[in-house]
Amino acid sequence: MDDFYRENILDHYRNPRNAGTLEDATHTHEENNPLCGDVIRIDLHVNDDNVINEVAFKGRGCAISQASASMLMEMIQGKTLDEAKAIGKEEILEALGIEIGPTRLKCALLSLKVLKAGAYGLSESEWNKDDDW
Ligand code: FES
Repeated sequence: MDDFYRENILDHYRNPRNAGTLEDATHTHEENNPLCGDVIRIDLHVNDDNVINEVAFKGRGCAISQASASMLMEMIQGKTLDEAKAIGKEEILEALGIEIGPTRLKCALLSLKVLKAGAYGLSESEWNKDDDW
């Protein structure tokens, strides 16, 4: 079963879903993983009904960080902003489906951290970078 999840992670890493940026984003946020400096930026377009109707992400980093970002984009597209805010680390770890050690946890959760900060409209200084989602 692990093989299926490993293949899935590699597929998302090699063929990221919703890669790029949005010109008309309503929410944009970028964060790095302080341990390695790798970066993810997420753009959302939220419509008048509070639904995320367009998503995009861009970044550089390891397979886990980029694959989890790609998976997260699929999870939130079509959801309301409040539903996206409610996504927790369990959903990301479940989607990845493999054992994630403590050092890779920041890789796995980087995109969620970016999403939360972007969705709540937090500025860099308001964001607790040491928080583990
Ligand atoms: Fe940098 Fe994973 S090693 S995000």
